[in-house]
Amino acid sequence: MSFPEGFFQRGDETPDNVFYAVPRLVTHIDDDAIAAVGQLYEELGIEGDVLDLMSSWVSHFRIAPRTLTVLGMNAYELERNEQATSWVVHDLNATPRMPFENETFDDVVCCVSVDYLTQPVDVFRDVARVLRPGGRFVCTFSNRLFPTKAVRAWLYSDDDEHCSIVAEYFHRSQVFGPATAALRTPPMHRGDPLYAVWAERAD
Ligand SMILES: C[S@@+](CC[C@H](N)C(=O)[O-])C[C@H]1O[C@@H](n2cnc3c(N)ncnc32)[C@H](O)[C@@H]1O
Repeated sequence: MSFPEGFFQRGDETPDNVFYAVPRLVTHIDDDAIAAVGQLYEELGIEGDVLDLMSSWVSHFRIAPRTLTVLGMNAYELERNEQATSWVVHDLNATPRMPFENETFDDVVCCVSVDYLTQPVDVFRDVARVLRPGGRFVCTFSNRLFPTKAVRAWLYSDDDEHCSIVAEYFHRSQVFGPATAALRTPPMHRGDPLYAVWAERAD
């Protein structure tokens, strides 16, 4: 899969700190989808030193990990994340390199936000840099979004294609092993579907 011209264009190309200046203390997926995120984290044993990328006031863990660093765009939201032990405002589209030392985290998660990345391969490479050996990067997403801030390719793709796009980000970063993709809500589920794509840092 190649990334054609316009793949990462967005309806709203203003800097992200404009759109995310207003706090949104809401949930972006329904309760079943949130529960599916927590269940996946539990099944994968995401419980050590964890980074929640593109985070807000909730991180969806059933039990908070040992330490949880949350990175996002809005300080008011991040400060209110009760599972977080530290938080940082950082615009990944302006600066894909994150303000963390190499091998700081056991695992990194990113919930319902990967569709907003305009330089995802650079971000995925940097995620691998801050992961310890054997660490995983777990991306979850549904079919709801802020349409003006999602990249164009995501808007014109279906659920299966979204999984392929994220798997391609992993592949192109060249720093992760094979990605696993799964629908984590039941196939006939009537609410928000919850998909996950994850991979382990390659060593
Ligand atoms: C749909 S919300 C999801 C929030 C949270 N992960 C959740 O599960 O509820 C999208 C999040 O992505 C973050 N975000 C958007 N663009 C970003 C960027 N350029 N750099 C870092 N974070 C960003 C925003 O701060 C926002 O909290």
